Amino acid sequence: MTYENLLLSEENNILIVTFNREKALNALNRRTMLELNHLFSEDAPARTNLKGIVLTGAGDRAFVAGADIKEFLEMEGEKGQNMAQYGQDTLFLIERFSKPVVAAVNGFALGGGCELAMACHLRVAGEKARFGQPEVNLGIIPGYGGTQRLTQLVGKAKSLELCMTGEMIDATEAHRLGLANYVVPAGEEVIMAINLIEKTATKGPIAIAKVIESVNAFFEDGVDGFAYEIKAFGETTNTTDFREGATAFTEKRTPKFEGK
Ligand code: COA
Repeated sequence: MTYENLLLSEENNILIVTFNREKALNALNRRTMLELNHLFSEDAPARTNLKGIVLTGAGDRAFVAGADIKEFLEMEGEKGQNMAQYGQDTLFLIERFSKPVVAAVNGFALGGGCELAMACHLRVAGEKARFGQPEVNLGIIPGYGGTQRLTQLVGKAKSLELCMTGEMIDATEAHRLGLANYVVPAGEEVIMAINLIEKTATKGPIAIAKVIESVNAFFEDGVDGFAYEIKAFGETTNTTDFREGATAFTEKRTPKFEGK
């Protein structure tokens, strides 16, 4: 697939994905969602050497200012439901990706943009970042998982407040609430996101994938997270990486993990 709205650059096995519709504050139109889905279902999994992925927005104003409101006008009933289904399916691809995905939030992360950031494993907020679920201003509700992931991240009271008032919060407040992992000076979001991925890249890759799966299991319907963790732990103890990690510890050297 040719990417029209996503800019991809890979450096040192880290993929930087930039939402590139600056004039529309990087709003997620249909084409962008198709590209994002393709990226996480086909392209990224095929890049087997990746350490992780950073998502960010073009320009210095927005990460992603939501779904494209101009396309909403064509939407009603079943079309709206299909749009939400596709959006949720796409964001689940991100949440379930086996390598760290970090949102470098460089400006407005509103509506679908906040939902996108929340589907990432970690969020770095620049000082100019603004988060919010303003859908009620349009007479709709979040549809890409916002009511669920915001509640998971900040709790019911704040989630209800943010979704019902539609008000934006700044980076400091997002950090205080646990929505942002870090706040950094404007312009340093991507560097910090890369640093976080580099940190995880020194660990056992299978262990990282199993951490992601096991934490996600807490929120999966009908899945016993504790039982999932026991199974995943067992799987990690059967890896060459575990033997290497434990041996390196006893030999007082840095482990060389191979993802096996
Ligand atoms: N969808 C489509 N276009 C959008 C957009 C969105 N979600 N958010 C911003 N844009 C466009 C604006 O229409 C404008 O385009 P124009 O120059 O062709 O008119 C351009 O981006 C700049 O936005 P503008 O509103 O002029 O900037 P601002 O600084 O005054 O306000 C925001 C910035 C983010 C507060 C404001 O754009 C906004 O509220 N956007 C919608 C956010 C939202 O409700 N998202 C959830 C959608 S469900």
